[in-house]
Amino acid sequence: MSKKLLQDKVAIVTGAGRGLGEAVARAYAAEGAKVVVSDIDASAAQKVADSLPGAIAVACDVRKSEQVKALVDAAVSKHGRLDIMVPNAGVARVAPLVSTSYEEWREVTSVNLDGVFLCIRHAAPAIIAAGGGSIINMASVTAKAACALIGSYAAAKAGVVSLTQTAAVELRAHKVRVNAILPGFIDTELVKSHIPEFEEQLKLPDFGAVVAQRQGRYGTVEEVAHLAVFLASERSSFSTGSGFVLDGGVSSSLL
Ligand SMILES: NC(=O)c1ccc[n+]([C@@H]2O[C@H](COP(=O)([O-])OP(=O)(O)OC[C@H]3O[C@@H](n4cnc5c(N)ncnc54)[C@H](O)[C@@H]3O)[C@@H](O)[C@H]2O)c1
Repeated sequence: MSKKLLQDKVAIVTGAGRGLGEAVARAYAAEGAKVVVSDIDASAAQKVADSLPGAIAVACDVRKSEQVKALVDAAVSKHGRLDIMVPNAGVARVAPLVSTSYEEWREVTSVNLDGVFLCIRHAAPAIIAAGGGSIINMASVTAKAACALIGSYAAAKAGVVSLTQTAAVELRAHKVRVNAILPGFIDTELVKSHIPEFEEQLKLPDFGAVVAQRQGRYGTVEEVAHLAVFLASERSSFSTGSGFVLDGGVSSSLL
């Protein structure tokens, strides 16, 4: 029997209580990884961890430096090492920039950008100590092209792409690869919960029809998880500092 792609690797996935993070945690466990399932929602993280072989749950708010450090410490103290970090936790708010308060701006940027910085900051030393590994940041195709009403989210995701590049260059000598995934619209609660606001504010009768026209269909969480497995594994050994777009072509087309 061939060895699984992530056999015995220790991986942290943040925001893994549902959606994309949960799918990545499941795909990593299926490839033999010991997954630390983390989320601000402790019971959601526990539920996912309970369903995966070798997984544990650790509650963590990625906006809090001491909690992210404790998350990394928990992984290392349980398994003796850390090989893979997936800063995936994210939130979005739907509003034009001119009616976004500073507090709303910070709410979005603190999770989506500060949270990724804190994950890199605290995980990289542990991954270096393990002899190298992989960090996979969950960015978004909104880092590449404007999407009205989610300016704070898009700015944070563009920041994640930039952080990915700097971290990749700084950590290359330590054998830590750092890449980003830039998904288009994927079928998750995050998207579903905001569709009524897009429809109302952009006066669109059917947001689903717009997605169908621009990117063919919604992507699935499994399609993102496949890429996250590739980027965590040695199969992507020459890839670092890159943003991998997975969007049904939406960012490549005018119509
Ligand atoms: N769904 C999409 O279409 C899409 C597209 C591009 C990028 N993304 C990105 O993928 C990631 C996951 O998105 P999703 O669609 O699965 O979202 P989701 O809302 O379904 O899941 C996000 C998870 O993050 C957790 N979370 C929120 N704030 C947190 C915090 N402060 N600390 C720790 N955990 C926190 C939530 O509890 C939730 O379990 C996000 O970074 C999102 O921006 C999603």
